[in-house]
Amino acid sequence: TREEMEARVSEIKEHFGETLFIPGHHYQKDEVVIFSDATGDSLQLAQVAAQNKKAKYIVFCGVHFMAETADILTTDEQVVILPDMRAGCSMADMADIEQTERAWLKLQQLFGDTMLPLTYVNSTAAIKAFCGRNGGATVTSSNAKAMVEWAFTQKERIFFLPDQHLGRNTAYDLGIPLAHMAVWDPQTDTLEYEGNLADIKVILWKGHCSVHQNFTVHNIENIRKQHPDMRIIVHPECCREVVAASDDAGSTKYIIETIEKAPAGSKWAIGTEMNLVKRMIAQHPDKHIVSLNPYMCPCLTMNRIDLPHLLWALESLEKGEEVNIIKVDQTIAAEATLALNRMLARA
Ligand code: 13P
Ligand code: SF4
Repeated sequence: TREEMEARVSEIKEHFGETLFIPGHHYQKDEVVIFSDATGDSLQLAQVAAQNKKAKYIVFCGVHFMAETADILTTDEQVVILPDMRAGCSMADMADIEQTERAWLKLQQLFGDTMLPLTYVNSTAAIKAFCGRNGGATVTSSNAKAMVEWAFTQKERIFFLPDQHLGRNTAYDLGIPLAHMAVWDPQTDTLEYEGNLADIKVILWKGHCSVHQNFTVHNIENIRKQHPDMRIIVHPECCREVVAASDDAGSTKYIIETIEKAPAGSKWAIGTEMNLVKRMIAQHPDKHIVSLNPYMCPCLTMNRIDLPHLLWALESLEKGEEVNIIKVDQTIAAEATLALNRMLARA
């Protein structure tokens, strides 16, 4: 039963004490989040993993790229475990390293040595390594603006992977006109742009989040009609049109803080992942909160980490078996560290 599983997880956690650490992303299910030693967005979790020197085992409740980042930032003795290897990220899967190297060569033919690569942390370790060895950095949705500003102190142009929406929304907020942004399509190896090539300042990888793309301008129109006094806040992984039509936009952390600070009785439609929206609804009974999309929008891969998988990973450790280890190749890890550290030094 669920109660038995919960009791076993608690028992094993107690047995391992500080040698076991369970980070949990905000988009995880409640049944997993209740056992998390730290919850956070992707940046916060990367930082706590880097600071934790006591834990031998880091059982990461999140998706594959987050577990990779944790492995890169922790010591060789620490073991990072992902309770279900199928917990990937469709956005991270949209940029593979061969496509990226090919794009970089072609873009260099167009723009020479004027570009700095930036990658959203929602990317494979190999893409982070690509950015690291080319002078670039990682970004998260919490610090994308600061990192893009920094990138423009280094080079005239940025090459932003893999989320076109976070890249476009961030650059737009910094005053870069949409006409000065191009999109690299890795399926056709072509650059899509209007106007003058020389004016292009931002090259966006044609990737997106399959969860946040489900929030539409149509959803916003419906909310405006039904609840004219409701404020609409969305994640910058939503497309430009949705962000523009909303009242506010920001990272997972920003959305949580905004709702916490909001006065009792205030009304909110939130455009981000379902588990988090449901948790905010439960945590703020004094506020009227709904999902911007009535179908809620779960992240299917985040949801693959559930109580049975968490228990299985922990019971394996109890038996002395290390299952589902996430270990990034050393050369890749070293180059990815360059990219992550350039971000952590500024974030
Ligand atoms: P943040 O946690 O950086 O807001 O990213 C959202 C996300 O999609 C994580 O997968
Ligand atoms: Fe990837 Fe989007 Fe799921 Fe985050 S919410 S893990 S970006 S698919």
